[in-house]
Amino acid sequence: MPIKVLVTGGRGRLARALSRVGGSNVHGLSSTELDITNAAAIQFALERLRPDVVINAAALSNVEASDTAPDRARSVNATAPGRMAQACDQLGTPLIHISTDYVFGAETTKPWREADPVSPLNNYGRLKAEGERNVLAASDKVCIGRVAWLFGDGKDFIANLLRGDAVTVKVAHDQTGSPTPIFLLAKRLLTLADRMNAGEAVPPVLHLAGSPPVARADWVAAAFEALQRSGKKTPKLMRVPMADFVGTTPRPNYSALDCNLATEFFGEELNWHISTAQPETFTEQTVSA
Ligand SMILES: NC(=O)c1ccc[n+]([C@@H]2O[C@H](COP(=O)([O-])OP(=O)(O)OC[C@H]3O[C@@H](n4cnc5c(N)ncnc54)[C@H](OP(=O)(O)O)[C@@H]3O)[C@@H](O)[C@H]2O)c1
Repeated sequence: MPIKVLVTGGRGRLARALSRVGGSNVHGLSSTELDITNAAAIQFALERLRPDVVINAAALSNVEASDTAPDRARSVNATAPGRMAQACDQLGTPLIHISTDYVFGAETTKPWREADPVSPLNNYGRLKAEGERNVLAASDKVCIGRVAWLFGDGKDFIANLLRGDAVTVKVAHDQTGSPTPIFLLAKRLLTLADRMNAGEAVPPVLHLAGSPPVARADWVAAAFEALQRSGKKTPKLMRVPMADFVGTTPRPNYSALDCNLATEFFGEELNWHISTAQPETFTEQTVSA
């Protein structure tokens, strides 16, 4: 029997991907339908919908917003997830809480493993790490799913580069991460929800990003090559250091996630290269998806 999954942040990118993949089994609630900073509203939504599993995809995901609106960011990204985990725990409902590669930021050239201590470089990463701790302290029926560099929904980094009519685009060659195909991630999250609902013991933290690690400029180059092969025009790619993007919140040079645990858990790797090589991943059709 299909399970009922409540997804918060229903208008967001990941929540929409989950709804598209999960169809009527996924009940996405937007911020106006369920404000996760309102404890009573969480309680009410859980009691009304009685979901089998909750996925918290709500967040103040704009990295700079954690600097410009720190109180709101703490409330959404750190405090509310803990309260949601408490409310879920009281009803015995498993919770998957979505987190980020930006909980890491220390100097390294080795992919981050689940057990590595967090080392955030900016407020967004610090607050998301606090949210993770709050969730883990509130319940043992939880899984923190760390994701990164979501793509494939027409709202991603590469789609944004293609949107204008720029002749040249500058992309960092010294920023390494884990591009994650959003619809395959959504499928994986729904499988995880099924398995948690069935009572299977799951790791408390799972790296659910794409593999293998790649420099941002190399990832963009792979996408542009695939688009060119299918006859699409792409801007010229100029490889620049991250330091060229001055005036923004600091971001880690290396936030690639080691996803071996998830590969073992799901039986296969989430390979960013395969999705990136399909030109339709970044074409206009996906924009309205
Ligand atoms: N996108 C990425 O590449 C990326 C990378 C790493 C980690 N992540 C993580 O992945 C998760 C999903 O990200 P996303 O890209 O889907 O973000 P998104 O598109 O910004 O969606 C987040 C949603 O959360 C909603 N929200 C904000 N405050 C809320 C509140 N108080 N109550 C309920 N909903 C609220 C927003 O509602 P409104 O639409 O009303 O503003 C928005 O629709 C987040 O945890 C994010 O930190 C994303």
